[in-house]
Amino acid sequence: MKAMVYTRYGPPEVVQLQEVNLPTVKTNDVRIKIRATTVNRTDCGFRSANYFISRFFSGLLKPKINILGCEFAGEIESVGRDVSNFKPGDRVFGYDDTRFGGHGEYKVMAASGALATIPEGMEYTVAAALTEGSHYALGNIRAARIKQGDTVMVYGATGAIGSAAVQLLKHFGAYVVAVSNTKNVGLVASLGADEVIDYQTQNFTETTHRFNFIFDAVGKRSFRQCKPLLKSKGIYISTELGKNSENIGLA
Ligand SMILES: NC(=O)c1ccc[n+]([C@@H]2O[C@H](COP(=O)([O-])OP(=O)(O)OC[C@H]3O[C@@H](n4cnc5c(N)ncnc54)[C@H](OP(=O)(O)O)[C@@H]3O)[C@@H](O)[C@H]2O)c1
Repeated sequence: MKAMVYTRYGPPEVVQLQEVNLPTVKTNDVRIKIRATTVNRTDCGFRSANYFISRFFSGLLKPKINILGCEFAGEIESVGRDVSNFKPGDRVFGYDDTRFGGHGEYKVMAASGALATIPEGMEYTVAAALTEGSHYALGNIRAARIKQGDTVMVYGATGAIGSAAVQLLKHFGAYVVAVSNTKNVGLVASLGADEVIDYQTQNFTETTHRFNFIFDAVGKRSFRQCKPLLKSKGIYISTELGKNSENIGLA
């Protein structure tokens, strides 16, 4: 099969189209014919290894896994002997940041992994882009232990993580104040945000709300800046390390 392969860390050019062996299916695996995939922040992070810490997962000197692509949509092509929850022909989408492989024509993963049937009428291209941002959003919302009625700020509500966070927080019953740029105020409101602050015309720190959770979904702000907006025992989480990596020690 054809796949986009990388064998060393570096810029996008290190990824090359190559002919590789079809991945083999073990008893609890499914093999998926990939119809759509994305190149997202997780793929780029594993490709560049700019954050040295990521090499403890991806390989110290060179990548252990050579085909990236953690989110994908496609068709089940074959299943292992012990698989009962999927069958050949099922339309599926999923997330796999352990084995990756979405940037190949076929990918193998455990049938018990983060894999689900695509809702009827949804295109592969739409389904493929649903999982990476929502995976990080959900992980952070769970870490913050959000309850019904909590007040939450999502800073950077237009990105993959932020837009998923707004929708998930509304699902969990939070009151959501979202921060976005002018052109996306309407979009963010349509995702369910109770209030939208336009960071291009307003200073978000002047809000009168106090928050149980501030989620900086684009890693542009700092804990110091957000602390005055938190309620007692409020939680701040950022998707980035922050200025001078301050979030490691402070947030
Ligand atoms: N910690 C991790 O493991 C991990 C994993 C994945 C991603 N990340 C990080 O999480 C961040 C978001 O990832 P993503 O995949 O959601 O990114 P994305 O889809 O590319 O979205 C980035 C968003 O940032 C918004 N933005 C840019 N500058 C802004 C500012 N000054 N204030 C508010 N919003 C601003 C952009 O909106 P407009 O252009 O419309 O303003 C855009 O919607 C990235 O920094 C990424 O590196 C971390």
